[in-house]
Amino acid sequence: MQPALLLPSGQILNGSRVNDIQTSQALRHTTSLARDDDFPARLTLAGVTLLLTLVHVGLAALWIGAMAYSLFVAQPAVARTQPDPVRAEEYYREFATGNRWRVVAIIAALAASGGGLVMVASGRSATWWLLIGAKTALLAVGAGIFWWVSWRGWPRRIFALPAEIPAEQARFRRVALALMAVVGLAFVLGVVAAHP
Ligand code: HEM
Repeated sequence: MQPALLLPSGQILNGSRVNDIQTSQALRHTTSLARDDDFPARLTLAGVTLLLTLVHVGLAALWIGAMAYSLFVAQPAVARTQPDPVRAEEYYREFATGNRWRVVAIIAALAASGGGLVMVASGRSATWWLLIGAKTALLAVGAGIFWWVSWRGWPRRIFALPAEIPAEQARFRRVALALMAVVGLAFVLGVVAAHP
């Protein structure tokens, strides 16, 4: 529809006068939009998209926020109050206990809600698909890093000799920073994709 059809009667657009017939055509068109049979379906789609976005972004924020709190608040506090790395290790171990399946659940739900958002999207550009592909790859890399930390790194750290503990702690910190960078980049790419 031409924009001129939505103008009130008597207005000038590109030198032509919009007459009463055009105005009534515009009104008929607007009314038919409101009675559009697809309206409930579009409303449902908008609701599902909103829900998926809330879950997706909420989980992303939760994951990044939890990592940031651990790395920049909790762990430095432990190091300050317990400067002996071997004694501090007890606290780090306690922090890590029971988190494996919570993080696995966050990763799975992020992938599922992201997949859902792909399914409800339509008519997206090649750049959009590139960004979503990159996010998917980053999540896979993040999941791989987490798998290493939880299934390889921690069993080794638990059996480390006291002399090996400072090096283990430093290595875990580097790996955690790398994981945060990967997940943070996925976050940025998501926002770029959603707000081009
Ligand atoms: C399998 C992996 C993933 C897929 C398939 C995926 C897919 C999507 C899709 C389709 C959107 C909507 C874009 C749009 O509305 O145009 C989105 C948005 C977003 N994603 Fe992901 N995503 C994945 C992983 C991640 C990860 C790991 C993070 C960060 C931890 C993340 C953070 C975000 C954010 C922040 C948005 C922006 C939402 C908004 O501003 O409305 N995503 N994602």
